Amino acid sequence: MLEKIAKIRDEALRAVEVAADKESLDQIRVRFLGKKGELTAILRSMGQVPKEERPKVGQEVNTLRRQLEEALESKLKDLERAELEKRLTREKVDVTLPGRRPSRGTYHPLTLVLREIERIFLGMGYEVAEGPEVETEYYNFEALNIPAEHPARDMWDTLYTARNTLLRTHTSPVQVRTMEQKAPEVPIKIIAPGRVYRRDALDASHSPVFNQVEGLVVDKGITFADLKGTLILFAQKMFGEDRKVRFRPSFFPFTEPSAEVDVSCIVCNGEGCRLCSQTGWLEILGAGSVHPKVLEMSGYDPKIYSGFAFGMGLDRIALLKYGIDDIRHLYENNWSFLKQFKAQ
Ligand code: DAH
Repeated sequence: MLEKIAKIRDEALRAVEVAADKESLDQIRVRFLGKKGELTAILRSMGQVPKEERPKVGQEVNTLRRQLEEALESKLKDLERAELEKRLTREKVDVTLPGRRPSRGTYHPLTLVLREIERIFLGMGYEVAEGPEVETEYYNFEALNIPAEHPARDMWDTLYTARNTLLRTHTSPVQVRTMEQKAPEVPIKIIAPGRVYRRDALDASHSPVFNQVEGLVVDKGITFADLKGTLILFAQKMFGEDRKVRFRPSFFPFTEPSAEVDVSCIVCNGEGCRLCSQTGWLEILGAGSVHPKVLEMSGYDPKIYSGFAFGMGLDRIALLKYGIDDIRHLYENNWSFLKQFKAQ
């Protein structure tokens, strides 16, 4: 029996030595130490061992069991260490590889155009003002000389969120808010960019949500000539020094006189083409001298003070500036479209 144990020892320890992976170690454990294992079998057959030999045999089996367990344990550690080392070499980081650039966004064309407009007007001493997109009827209409029932309200129909509260249809209310805040101080020189809302169906040139930039100047002795000079300068800085600028008489309840302002077509230079519908001109904004009633309602005596105002569609300016043929491109967040616009 002792010989048999010695044979098992040799075999088992050799097997552990040559084992190449954890699975082989498990198999060895089962084969020798398992319930039906070879060592267990010896203990089971103890009955056949002569009485005097039994203690010795029992001792040997236990020693071998311990030896084998230790051998298995230390081999397992060896295998794990080897595997870790292999992984470390395999997964080495090559620091000489070129880095992966995170993809960078670009500025939205509306942002680029707004920044340019702001740069031009800040250069002339204007400040940037803002107002709420959910406005009261007073600021959106009444204070701009558009009383209830005035037919001009049809042009600016919008969504009412509550009685007397609506999504603003233009940035003109910021004129009123600014004057109220400042009165009777002068000068006021502001532009007010922001989102506005109308009951327009989405098509190539209309969007129910779009952007405007309002302008307002109030001081003593401001005339229509100041308005013309300012807007001609703006148009030429925005669309090119050789643009011609045209003022057409128009009507807005909050200005008197009122005008619509066109620049000579940036595509055909006045010859007539598809962009300008063969007219040679592109309309870019509405403007006028601030109506005396508007001044008065907001705290400025029209006998002492005068002013001019203008309002342009930011989206329209962006379409013209970049030759974009459909306003919907500005709101679809299509990366192949947007990535074409880089800040200069
Ligand atoms: N608020 C006008 C609109 O949305 C645009 C406008 C016209 C603004 C004339 C002005 C102005 O300040 O003087 O159609």
